Amino acid sequence: MSEPQPTAVPAETRPRHALGPAHLVMAGIGAIIGAGIFVITGQAAAMYAGPAITISFGIAGLGCLFAGLCYAEFASLLPAQGSAYTYAYATLGQFVAWLIGWDLILEFLTAAGTVASGWSGYFNGLMAELGYPIPEALSRAPFDLDEEHLAFATGAIANVPAMALVLVLTLLLIIGGRTPTTFKNLVVALKIGVILLVIGFGLSHIQIDNLTPFVPEATDLPGQYGWLGVLRGAGVVFFAYIGFDAIAAQEAKNPQRDVVIGIVGALIICTILYVLMALTITGLQHFTHLNVPNPVSVAIEAAGSDLAWLAPVVNVVAIIGLAALVRELLRGQSRIFFALARDGLLPPAFGRMAGASRTPYLGGIVAGLAAAALAGFLPLAILIELVSIGTLFAFIVVCIAVMVLRSTAPNTPRAFRTPLVPLVPLLGIGLCGAMMYVLPADTWLRFAFWMFIGLIVYGVYGMHHARAPKWTLVRDPKA
Ligand code: ALA
Repeated sequence: MSEPQPTAVPAETRPRHALGPAHLVMAGIGAIIGAGIFVITGQAAAMYAGPAITISFGIAGLGCLFAGLCYAEFASLLPAQGSAYTYAYATLGQFVAWLIGWDLILEFLTAAGTVASGWSGYFNGLMAELGYPIPEALSRAPFDLDEEHLAFATGAIANVPAMALVLVLTLLLIIGGRTPTTFKNLVVALKIGVILLVIGFGLSHIQIDNLTPFVPEATDLPGQYGWLGVLRGAGVVFFAYIGFDAIAAQEAKNPQRDVVIGIVGALIICTILYVLMALTITGLQHFTHLNVPNPVSVAIEAAGSDLAWLAPVVNVVAIIGLAALVRELLRGQSRIFFALARDGLLPPAFGRMAGASRTPYLGGIVAGLAAAALAGFLPLAILIELVSIGTLFAFIVVCIAVMVLRSTAPNTPRAFRTPLVPLVPLLGIGLCGAMMYVLPADTWLRFAFWMFIGLIVYGVYGMHHARAPKWTLVRDPKA
Protein backbone atom coordinates (compact mmCIF):
# COMPACT_ATOMS: atom_id res chain seq x y z
CA MET A 1 0.00 0.00 0.00
CA SER A 2 1.32 3.42 -0.85
CA GLU A 3 2.22 5.87 1.93
CA PRO A 4 -0.57 8.24 2.84
CA GLN A 5 -0.12 11.93 2.18
CA PRO A 6 -1.12 13.41 5.51
CA THR A 7 0.29 16.79 4.57
CA ALA A 8 -2.01 17.56 1.66
CA VAL A 9 -2.98 21.17 2.14
CA PRO A 10 -6.09 22.74 0.62
CA ALA A 11 -5.17 25.23 -2.07
CA GLU A 12 -6.75 28.14 -0.25
CA THR A 13 -4.49 27.65 2.76
CA ARG A 14 -1.30 26.83 0.88
CA PRO A 15 1.81 28.73 2.04
CA ARG A 16 2.62 31.90 0.11
CA HIS A 17 5.12 33.62 2.39
CA ALA A 18 7.04 30.78 4.02
CA LEU A 19 9.17 31.49 7.11
CA GLY A 20 12.40 29.87 8.35
CA PRO A 21 13.03 28.68 11.94
CA ALA A 22 14.38 31.99 13.32
CA HIS A 23 11.44 33.92 11.87
CA LEU A 24 9.04 31.32 13.27
CA VAL A 25 10.52 31.77 16.75
CA MET A 26 10.13 35.54 16.29
CA ALA A 27 6.56 35.08 15.04
CA GLY A 28 5.84 32.85 18.04
CA ILE A 29 7.20 35.38 20.51
CA GLY A 30 5.23 38.08 18.71
CA ALA A 31 2.02 36.08 19.11
CA ILE A 32 2.78 35.25 22.74
CA ILE A 33 3.97 38.48 24.40
CA GLY A 34 1.12 40.86 25.09
CA ALA A 35 -1.33 41.88 27.78
CA GLY A 36 -0.38 38.84 29.86
CA ILE A 37 2.97 40.18 30.95
CA PHE A 38 2.19 43.90 30.57
CA VAL A 39 -1.16 43.90 32.42
CA ILE A 40 -2.16 40.63 34.03
CA THR A 41 1.04 40.09 36.03
CA GLY A 42 0.03 42.96 38.32
CA GLN A 43 -3.57 41.88 38.81
CA ALA A 44 -2.71 38.23 39.38
CA ALA A 45 0.02 39.14 41.88
CA ALA A 46 -2.32 41.47 43.77
CA MET A 47 -5.30 39.13 43.80
CA TYR A 48 -3.85 35.62 43.94
CA ALA A 49 -0.15 34.93 44.29
CA GLY A 50 1.78 37.96 45.59
CA PRO A 51 5.49 37.89 44.62
CA ALA A 52 5.12 34.13 44.02
CA ILE A 53 3.46 35.08 40.73
CA THR A 54 7.02 34.43 39.54
CA ILE A 55 6.49 30.74 40.39
CA SER A 56 3.05 30.86 38.75
CA PHE A 57 4.72 31.96 35.51
CA GLY A 58 7.11 29.00 35.78
CA ILE A 59 4.24 26.53 36.33
CA ALA A 60 2.18 27.95 33.47
CA GLY A 61 5.24 27.91 31.18
CA LEU A 62 5.90 24.26 32.00
CA GLY A 63 2.26 23.32 31.30
CA CYS A 64 2.50 25.08 27.93
CA LEU A 65 5.78 23.35 27.13
CA PHE A 66 4.22 19.91 27.66
CA ALA A 67 1.21 20.88 25.55
CA GLY A 68 3.53 22.55 23.02
CA LEU A 69 5.48 19.30 22.54
CA CYS A 70 2.17 17.58 21.73
CA TYR A 71 1.21 20.38 19.32
CA ALA A 72 4.59 19.96 17.65
CA GLU A 73 3.96 16.30 16.76
CA PHE A 74 0.70 17.26 15.09
CA ALA A 75 2.30 20.23 13.40
CA SER A 76 4.85 17.87 11.85
CA LEU A 77 1.99 15.73 10.48
CA LEU A 78 -0.54 18.36 9.44
CA PRO A 79 1.50 21.45 8.62
CA ALA A 80 -0.31 24.65 7.62
CA GLN A 81 -3.61 23.23 8.80
CA GLY A 82 -2.51 23.65 12.34
CA SER A 83 -4.91 24.29 15.12
CA ALA A 84 -6.30 22.23 17.96
CA TYR A 85 -9.44 21.98 15.81
CA THR A 86 -7.77 20.07 12.95
CA TYR A 87 -5.72 17.95 15.37
CA ALA A 88 -8.89 16.93 17.21
CA TYR A 89 -10.67 16.28 13.89
CA ALA A 90 -7.84 14.09 12.65
CA THR A 91 -7.87 11.89 15.73
CA LEU A 92 -11.03 12.23 17.79
CA GLY A 93 -13.63 12.88 15.11
CA GLN A 94 -16.00 15.61 14.08
CA PHE A 95 -17.96 16.13 17.29
CA VAL A 96 -14.92 16.71 19.50
CA ALA A 97 -13.43 18.84 16.71
CA TRP A 98 -16.53 21.02 16.71
CA LEU A 99 -16.32 21.43 20.49
CA ILE A 100 -12.70 22.53 20.15
CA GLY A 101 -13.50 24.81 17.20
CA TRP A 102 -16.27 26.45 19.20
CA ASP A 103 -13.93 26.68 22.18
CA LEU A 104 -11.28 28.34 19.98
CA ILE A 105 -13.83 30.96 18.91
CA LEU A 106 -14.22 31.81 22.61
CA GLU A 107 -10.44 31.84 23.05
CA PHE A 108 -9.66 34.17 20.15
CA LEU A 109 -12.60 36.55 20.62
CA THR A 110 -12.03 36.99 24.32
CA ALA A 111 -8.25 37.17 23.85
CA ALA A 112 -8.68 39.99 21.31
CA GLY A 113 -11.05 41.75 23.74
CA THR A 114 -8.65 41.20 26.65
CA VAL A 115 -5.58 42.53 24.86
CA ALA A 116 -7.58 45.53 23.61
CA SER A 117 -8.74 46.21 27.15
CA GLY A 118 -5.12 45.88 28.36
CA TRP A 119 -4.01 48.22 25.55
CA SER A 120 -6.46 50.86 26.76
CA GLY A 121 -4.82 50.81 30.23
CA TYR A 122 -1.51 51.96 28.73
CA PHE A 123 -3.20 54.27 26.21
CA ASN A 124 -5.25 56.01 28.92
CA GLY A 125 -2.10 56.28 31.07
CA LEU A 126 -0.21 57.92 28.21
CA MET A 127 -3.06 60.33 27.45
CA ALA A 128 -3.19 61.34 31.11
CA GLU A 129 0.56 61.98 31.11
CA LEU A 130 0.20 64.11 27.99
CA GLY A 131 -2.46 66.18 29.76
CA TYR A 132 -5.49 64.75 27.95
CA PRO A 133 -6.98 62.29 30.45
CA ILE A 134 -9.91 60.24 29.17
CA PRO A 135 -12.83 60.38 31.65
CA GLU A 136 -13.24 57.14 33.62
CA ALA A 137 -16.86 56.90 32.45
CA LEU A 138 -15.55 56.35 28.92
CA SER A 139 -12.49 54.24 29.67
CA ARG A 140 -13.79 51.43 31.87
CA ALA A 141 -16.29 48.57 31.64
CA PRO A 142 -19.62 49.30 33.34
CA PHE A 143 -18.99 46.65 35.99
CA ASP A 144 -16.06 44.89 37.60
CA LEU A 145 -15.40 42.03 40.03
CA ASP A 146 -14.37 42.48 43.65
CA GLU A 147 -12.00 40.24 45.62
CA GLU A 148 -14.77 37.69 46.14
CA HIS A 149 -15.49 37.65 42.41
CA LEU A 150 -18.80 39.45 42.95
CA ALA A 151 -19.84 42.03 40.35
CA PHE A 152 -20.17 45.70 41.24
CA ALA A 153 -21.14 48.68 39.09
CA THR A 154 -18.28 51.03 38.25
CA GLY A 155 -20.53 53.88 37.10
CA ALA A 156 -18.72 53.87 33.73
CA ILE A 157 -20.45 53.48 30.38
CA ALA A 158 -17.91 51.49 28.36
CA ASN A 159 -14.23 51.16 27.59
CA VAL A 160 -14.45 53.31 24.46
CA PRO A 161 -10.72 53.36 23.49
CA ALA A 162 -10.60 49.54 23.59
CA MET A 163 -13.71 49.28 21.41
CA ALA A 164 -12.40 51.87 18.96
CA LEU A 165 -9.10 49.99 18.62
CA VAL A 166 -10.83 46.71 17.78
CA LEU A 167 -13.17 48.34 15.27
CA VAL A 168 -10.39 50.22 13.48
CA LEU A 169 -8.22 47.09 13.32
CA THR A 170 -11.16 45.06 12.02
CA LEU A 171 -11.66 47.56 9.23
CA LEU A 172 -7.96 47.51 8.35
CA LEU A 173 -7.97 43.73 8.39
CA ILE A 174 -10.85 43.52 5.97
CA ILE A 175 -9.69 46.15 3.51
CA GLY A 176 -5.93 45.96 4.06
CA GLY A 177 -3.13 43.74 2.82
CA ARG A 178 -0.54 41.77 4.77
CA THR A 179 1.63 43.36 7.41
CA PRO A 180 5.23 43.20 6.16
CA THR A 181 7.32 40.62 8.04
CA THR A 182 9.95 43.29 8.72
CA PHE A 183 7.41 45.40 10.58
CA LYS A 184 6.20 42.38 12.56
CA ASN A 185 9.79 41.53 13.52
CA LEU A 186 10.39 45.14 14.54
CA VAL A 187 7.40 45.04 16.89
CA VAL A 188 8.62 41.76 18.39
CA ALA A 189 12.10 43.21 18.86
CA LEU A 190 10.57 46.26 20.59
CA LYS A 191 8.58 44.05 22.96
CA ILE A 192 11.58 41.86 23.82
CA GLY A 193 13.80 44.95 24.05
CA VAL A 194 11.56 46.76 26.53
CA ILE A 195 11.21 43.64 28.70
CA LEU A 196 15.01 43.27 28.75
CA LEU A 197 15.33 46.97 29.67
CA VAL A 198 12.89 46.59 32.58
CA ILE A 199 14.68 43.47 33.81
CA GLY A 200 18.18 44.87 33.20
CA PHE A 201 17.63 48.22 34.91
CA GLY A 202 14.94 47.11 37.36
CA LEU A 203 16.57 44.09 39.03
CA SER A 204 19.20 46.24 40.76
CA HIS A 205 16.43 48.48 42.23
CA ILE A 206 14.44 45.64 43.78
CA GLN A 207 13.46 46.07 47.46
CA ILE A 208 13.78 42.73 49.21
CA ASP A 209 10.98 43.80 51.60
CA ASN A 210 8.56 43.76 48.67
CA LEU A 211 9.40 40.11 48.06
CA THR A 212 9.01 38.96 51.65
CA PRO A 213 7.19 36.70 52.32
CA PHE A 214 7.55 35.34 48.82
CA VAL A 215 4.38 33.22 49.15
CA PRO A 216 1.98 35.36 51.22
CA GLU A 217 -0.11 33.54 53.80
CA ALA A 218 -3.46 32.32 52.46
CA THR A 219 -6.51 34.40 53.43
CA ASP A 220 -10.08 33.19 53.96
CA LEU A 221 -10.97 34.02 50.36
CA PRO A 222 -10.68 30.98 48.09
CA GLY A 223 -7.49 31.02 46.03
CA GLN A 224 -6.14 34.20 47.57
CA TYR A 225 -2.43 33.72 48.35
CA GLY A 226 -0.78 30.61 49.76
CA TRP A 227 0.10 27.74 47.40
CA LEU A 228 -3.46 27.50 46.10
CA GLY A 229 -3.13 31.15 45.14
CA VAL A 230 0.12 30.35 43.31
CA LEU A 231 -1.73 27.70 41.29
CA ARG A 232 -4.69 29.97 40.61
CA GLY A 233 -2.21 32.66 39.62
CA ALA A 234 -0.74 30.14 37.14
CA GLY A 235 -4.21 29.52 35.69
CA VAL A 236 -4.63 33.26 35.17
CA VAL A 237 -1.15 34.19 33.87
CA PHE A 238 -1.39 31.18 31.62
CA PHE A 239 -3.03 33.74 29.34
CA ALA A 240 0.42 35.26 28.85
CA TYR A 241 1.61 32.14 26.96
CA ILE A 242 -1.36 31.80 24.65
CA GLY A 243 -0.45 32.29 21.04
CA PHE A 244 2.31 29.74 20.52
CA ASP A 245 -0.29 27.52 18.86
CA ALA A 246 -0.51 30.19 16.15
CA ILE A 247 2.95 29.10 14.97
CA ALA A 248 1.42 25.84 13.80
CA ALA A 249 -0.76 27.85 11.42
CA GLN A 250 2.20 29.82 10.06
CA GLU A 251 3.55 29.25 6.62
CA ALA A 252 6.88 27.50 7.23
CA LYS A 253 9.63 26.75 4.71
CA ASN A 254 10.19 23.33 6.26
CA PRO A 255 7.04 22.83 8.31
CA GLN A 256 7.94 19.41 9.67
CA ARG A 257 11.07 20.66 11.41
CA ASP A 258 10.81 24.41 11.76
CA VAL A 259 7.42 24.57 13.44
CA VAL A 260 8.76 22.43 16.28
CA ILE A 261 11.74 24.75 16.69
CA GLY A 262 9.38 27.73 16.55
CA ILE A 263 7.02 26.42 19.24
CA VAL A 264 9.62 25.14 21.70
CA GLY A 265 12.04 28.03 21.13
CA ALA A 266 9.38 30.72 21.58
CA LEU A 267 8.01 29.06 24.72
CA ILE A 268 11.40 28.69 26.39
CA ILE A 269 12.42 32.28 25.62
CA CYS A 270 9.08 33.66 26.85
CA THR A 271 9.16 31.60 30.06
CA ILE A 272 12.61 32.98 30.95
CA LEU A 273 11.56 36.56 30.12
CA TYR A 274 8.29 36.27 32.05
CA VAL A 275 9.80 34.76 35.20
CA LEU A 276 12.47 37.48 35.37
CA MET A 277 10.00 40.24 34.52
CA ALA A 278 7.52 39.08 37.19
CA LEU A 279 10.32 39.03 39.77
CA THR A 280 11.37 42.53 38.77
CA ILE A 281 7.88 44.03 38.85
CA THR A 282 6.92 42.55 42.24
CA GLY A 283 10.37 43.44 43.58
CA LEU A 284 10.06 47.08 42.52
CA GLN A 285 6.55 47.66 43.83
CA HIS A 286 4.67 45.88 46.61
CA PHE A 287 2.18 43.50 45.01
CA THR A 288 -0.77 45.08 46.83
CA HIS A 289 -0.27 48.21 44.68
CA LEU A 290 -0.13 46.39 41.36
CA ASN A 291 -3.84 45.87 40.66
CA VAL A 292 -3.82 48.69 38.08
CA PRO A 293 -4.29 48.79 34.30
CA ASN A 294 -0.58 49.57 33.67
CA PRO A 295 1.39 47.69 36.36
CA VAL A 296 4.77 47.72 34.58
CA SER A 297 4.78 51.52 34.44
CA VAL A 298 3.58 51.71 38.05
CA ALA A 299 6.36 49.33 39.17
CA ILE A 300 9.00 51.37 37.36
CA GLU A 301 7.73 54.61 38.89
CA ALA A 302 8.32 53.08 42.34
CA ALA A 303 12.05 52.97 41.56
CA GLY A 304 12.10 56.79 41.60
CA SER A 305 13.93 59.22 39.34
CA ASP A 306 16.62 56.68 38.35
CA LEU A 307 14.21 54.86 36.07
CA ALA A 308 11.88 57.77 35.22
CA TRP A 309 13.03 57.64 31.59
CA LEU A 310 11.87 54.03 31.24
CA ALA A 311 8.15 54.50 32.01
CA PRO A 312 7.28 56.40 28.79
CA VAL A 313 9.29 53.87 26.77
CA VAL A 314 7.23 51.03 28.29
CA ASN A 315 4.01 52.94 27.62
CA VAL A 316 4.77 53.50 23.95
CA VAL A 317 6.00 49.95 23.30
CA ALA A 318 3.01 48.45 25.11
CA ILE A 319 0.67 50.56 23.00
CA ILE A 320 2.30 49.51 19.71
CA GLY A 321 2.87 45.87 20.72
CA LEU A 322 -0.60 45.24 22.13
CA ALA A 323 -2.33 46.85 19.14
CA ALA A 324 -0.32 44.62 16.78
CA LEU A 325 -1.32 41.58 18.82
CA VAL A 326 -5.04 42.45 18.72
CA ARG A 327 -4.75 42.50 14.93
CA GLU A 328 -3.16 39.03 14.89
CA LEU A 329 -5.82 37.65 17.22
CA LEU A 330 -8.58 38.99 14.99
CA ARG A 331 -6.89 37.39 12.01
CA GLY A 332 -6.60 34.12 13.93
CA GLN A 333 -10.30 34.25 14.72
CA SER A 334 -11.29 34.72 11.11
CA ARG A 335 -9.11 31.69 10.23
CA ILE A 336 -11.04 29.56 12.71
CA PHE A 337 -14.33 30.68 11.16
CA PHE A 338 -12.86 29.83 7.77
CA ALA A 339 -11.83 26.31 8.84
CA LEU A 340 -15.22 25.58 10.39
CA ALA A 341 -17.09 26.89 7.33
CA ARG A 342 -14.79 24.93 4.98
CA ASP A 343 -15.78 21.72 6.76
CA GLY A 344 -19.48 22.60 6.75
CA LEU A 345 -19.75 23.16 10.50
CA LEU A 346 -20.64 26.82 10.03
CA PRO A 347 -22.51 28.42 7.09
CA PRO A 348 -20.31 28.86 3.97
CA ALA A 349 -20.60 32.66 4.21
CA PHE A 350 -18.14 32.53 7.12
CA GLY A 351 -15.48 31.14 4.80
CA ARG A 352 -15.86 33.52 1.84
CA MET A 353 -12.75 35.59 1.35
CA ALA A 354 -12.22 39.03 -0.12
CA GLY A 355 -9.62 41.74 -0.52
CA ALA A 356 -5.87 41.65 -0.79
CA SER A 357 -5.57 40.13 2.67
CA ARG A 358 -7.73 37.15 1.64
CA THR A 359 -9.60 37.60 4.92
CA PRO A 360 -12.94 35.87 5.34
CA TYR A 361 -14.88 39.13 5.56
CA LEU A 362 -18.11 37.99 7.19
CA GLY A 363 -16.14 36.10 9.84
CA GLY A 364 -13.89 39.14 10.21
CA ILE A 365 -16.83 41.52 10.73
CA VAL A 366 -18.58 39.21 13.21
CA ALA A 367 -15.31 38.65 15.09
CA GLY A 368 -14.57 42.39 15.18
CA LEU A 369 -18.01 43.37 16.47
CA ALA A 370 -18.02 40.63 19.11
CA ALA A 371 -14.48 41.40 20.29
CA ALA A 372 -15.29 45.13 20.45
CA ALA A 373 -18.35 44.45 22.59
CA LEU A 374 -16.34 42.19 24.91
CA ALA A 375 -13.55 44.76 25.23
CA GLY A 376 -16.00 47.58 25.88
CA PHE A 377 -18.37 46.02 28.36
CA LEU A 378 -16.61 43.20 30.22
CA PRO A 379 -13.93 43.73 32.88
CA LEU A 380 -10.46 42.27 32.38
CA ALA A 381 -10.92 39.84 35.29
CA ILE A 382 -13.72 38.02 33.44
CA LEU A 383 -12.08 38.16 30.03
CA ILE A 384 -8.69 36.81 31.13
CA GLU A 385 -10.08 33.82 32.97
CA LEU A 386 -12.43 32.94 30.11
CA VAL A 387 -9.53 32.91 27.66
CA SER A 388 -7.45 30.83 30.04
CA ILE A 389 -10.12 28.21 30.74
CA GLY A 390 -10.95 27.88 27.03
CA THR A 391 -7.33 27.49 26.02
CA LEU A 392 -6.48 25.07 28.83
CA PHE A 393 -9.36 22.91 27.60
CA ALA A 394 -8.00 22.96 24.04
CA PHE A 395 -4.50 22.06 25.27
CA ILE A 396 -5.81 19.11 27.27
CA VAL A 397 -7.62 17.81 24.19
CA VAL A 398 -4.42 18.10 22.10
CA CYS A 399 -2.51 16.16 24.79
CA ILE A 400 -5.19 13.44 24.71
CA ALA A 401 -5.19 13.49 20.91
CA VAL A 402 -1.46 12.79 20.70
CA MET A 403 -1.89 9.66 22.80
CA VAL A 404 -4.81 8.55 20.61
CA LEU A 405 -2.67 9.21 17.53
CA ARG A 406 0.03 6.88 18.84
CA SER A 407 -2.45 4.01 18.94
CA THR A 408 -4.46 4.82 15.79
CA ALA A 409 -1.58 5.85 13.52
CA PRO A 410 1.61 4.58 15.15
CA ASN A 411 3.43 4.03 11.86
CA THR A 412 2.55 7.21 10.00
CA PRO A 413 5.88 8.93 9.48
CA ARG A 414 6.25 12.25 11.31
CA ALA A 415 9.29 14.48 11.50
CA PHE A 416 8.79 15.09 15.20
CA ARG A 417 7.57 12.73 17.88
CA THR A 418 6.52 14.06 21.28
CA PRO A 419 9.13 12.62 23.66
CA LEU A 420 8.24 10.18 26.45
CA VAL A 421 4.63 9.49 25.44
CA PRO A 422 2.47 8.98 27.49
CA LEU A 423 4.42 10.78 30.25
CA VAL A 424 4.67 14.20 28.57
CA PRO A 425 1.00 14.38 27.47
CA LEU A 426 -0.12 13.10 30.87
CA LEU A 427 1.97 15.78 32.59
CA GLY A 428 0.44 18.34 30.22
CA ILE A 429 -3.07 17.10 31.07
CA GLY A 430 -2.26 17.09 34.80
CA LEU A 431 -0.77 20.56 34.91
CA CYS A 432 -3.30 22.20 32.58
CA GLY A 433 -6.12 20.32 34.37
CA ALA A 434 -4.90 21.60 37.76
CA MET A 435 -4.73 25.20 36.48
CA MET A 436 -8.23 24.82 35.04
CA TYR A 437 -9.58 23.23 38.21
CA VAL A 438 -8.58 26.10 40.47
CA LEU A 439 -10.16 28.80 38.32
CA PRO A 440 -13.18 30.40 40.04
CA ALA A 441 -16.61 28.74 39.87
CA ASP A 442 -18.16 31.68 37.96
CA THR A 443 -15.54 31.25 35.21
CA TRP A 444 -16.50 27.57 34.94
CA LEU A 445 -20.16 28.54 34.66
CA ARG A 446 -19.49 31.03 31.84
CA PHE A 447 -17.39 28.41 30.03
CA ALA A 448 -20.10 25.74 30.45
CA PHE A 449 -22.72 28.18 29.14
CA TRP A 450 -20.63 28.93 26.03
CA MET A 451 -20.06 25.24 25.33
CA PHE A 452 -23.79 24.55 25.82
CA ILE A 453 -24.58 27.12 23.13
CA GLY A 454 -22.00 25.34 20.97
CA LEU A 455 -23.90 22.07 21.39
CA ILE A 456 -27.10 23.76 20.25
CA VAL A 457 -25.39 25.30 17.20
CA TYR A 458 -23.99 21.86 16.31
CA GLY A 459 -27.38 20.19 16.79
CA VAL A 460 -29.23 22.82 14.74
CA TYR A 461 -26.64 23.38 11.98
CA GLY A 462 -23.27 21.61 12.05
CA MET A 463 -24.28 17.97 12.28
CA HIS A 464 -26.65 18.37 9.32
CA HIS A 465 -24.27 20.28 7.03
CA ALA A 466 -20.82 18.91 7.91
CA ARG A 467 -18.95 17.26 5.07
CA ALA A 468 -15.85 15.09 5.04
CA PRO A 469 -12.80 17.37 5.18
CA LYS A 470 -10.92 17.91 1.92
CA TRP A 471 -7.66 17.92 3.83
CA THR A 472 -6.22 14.50 4.61
CA LEU A 473 -6.84 12.94 7.98
CA VAL A 474 -3.98 11.09 9.63
CA ARG A 475 -4.03 7.40 8.71
CA ASP A 476 -1.78 4.54 9.52
CA PRO A 477 0.03 3.17 6.43
CA LYS A 478 -0.15 -0.37 7.81
CA ALA A 479 -3.85 -0.18 8.72
N1 ALA B 1 -0.37 35.74 25.19
C1 ALA B 1 -1.07 36.86 24.73
C2 ALA B 1 -1.00 37.99 25.69
O1 ALA B 1 -0.35 37.89 26.70
C3 ALA B 1 -2.48 36.53 24.40
O2 ALA B 1 -1.59 39.02 25.44
